[in-house]
Amino acid sequence: RQQQLRDDAELMAQCTKYFQHQLKHHSDSAKAINYLKQRGLSGETVKRFQIGYASSDWDGILKTFAKNDQQRQQLVDLKLVNRNDNGRHYDFFRDRIMFPIHDRRGRVVGFGGRVIDSDGPKYLNSPETRLFHKGHELYGFWQLQQKRQKPAQVVIVEGYMDVVGLAQAGIDYSVASLGTATTTEQLQRLFRTTSKVVCCYDGDRAGRDAAWRALENALPLLKDGVDMRFLFLPDGQDPDSLVREQGAKEFEKKLGESVSFIDYFFEHLLADIDPSSETGRSQLLSQAKPKIEKVASDFYREALMEKLAEWLRREK
Ligand code: GTP
Ligand code: MN
Ligand code: MN
Ligand code: MN
Ligand code: MN
Repeated sequence: RQQQLRDDAELMAQCTKYFQHQLKHHSDSAKAINYLKQRGLSGETVKRFQIGYASSDWDGILKTFAKNDQQRQQLVDLKLVNRNDNGRHYDFFRDRIMFPIHDRRGRVVGFGGRVIDSDGPKYLNSPETRLFHKGHELYGFWQLQQKRQKPAQVVIVEGYMDVVGLAQAGIDYSVASLGTATTTEQLQRLFRTTSKVVCCYDGDRAGRDAAWRALENALPLLKDGVDMRFLFLPDGQDPDSLVREQGAKEFEKKLGESVSFIDYFFEHLLADIDPSSETGRSQLLSQAKPKIEKVASDFYREALMEKLAEWLRREK
């Protein structure tokens, strides 16, 4: 089984190189390169993230790596190749910009693929495989660990392009939680690397929902010395679009003005609750208390309880 995992990792590494090579040499690569340029990415950034291109060919990966049935089955297991109902095999990722996802040791465990100009879902992500467990991995975490020093803060964003776009602007301390809500496991890993995490999701409904879920998932991890903050972006913006529009300096300024989890906690609950009525105050108590009880540190739990008590004492 260990050997299997090593073989898998080796194949994923070769596929990563293959996609990188296609980006330079495939006959259709100009449109992929132009797309990356148009999004403001330099060759250096593309290289740093090992971004590649899967062409529209149906059998690029298949022809290159499936020399026998066993190899073909391995590609199917790793979800790089699909088998249809008629038993035909074909490449899973086609005509997409490829973002390899590294685990913390630097092995490629999955891919995200973005469409360039064709239809279909905007992003196609590797499904779970024996190598890839979505809720565990963080896009950009390995690159972050390559730096000599531990980061003073880490920004959590939603998308590949947010991590890459921020890095392009010089903000090389962000990671993405791969589409799902940021999990307790992901947060735990981050808090081993840094004491300050800023959640900065898209300025839309999904992004705001993701922020609250991240807060809920972080409650058991909020120990003394841990700082969790939230930066809410204007409607329609995401970290990538904002940093391109306003620059790294402005983005970092906004990070500095982010909201503490304590303030966000009550802002969020009080958005739907009117604390001037007795019903409202009892709602606040029943919603806030079970969450506060999950907080790890005595200090933060007391601070939250104190704030809660303040709100409950307010008569008007
Ligand atoms: P760009 O449009 O390239 O700037 O990407 P984005 O990251 O801003 O996309 P968006 O905000 O729409 O989505 C955030 C993240 O959700 C993406 O990076 C993907 O991980 C995921 N996602 C977006 N669209 C899809 C999709 O169609 N299918 C799946 N499975 N995931 C998606
Ligand atoms: Mn798992
Ligand atoms: Mn979005
Ligand atoms: Mn975007
Ligand atoms: Mn986005």
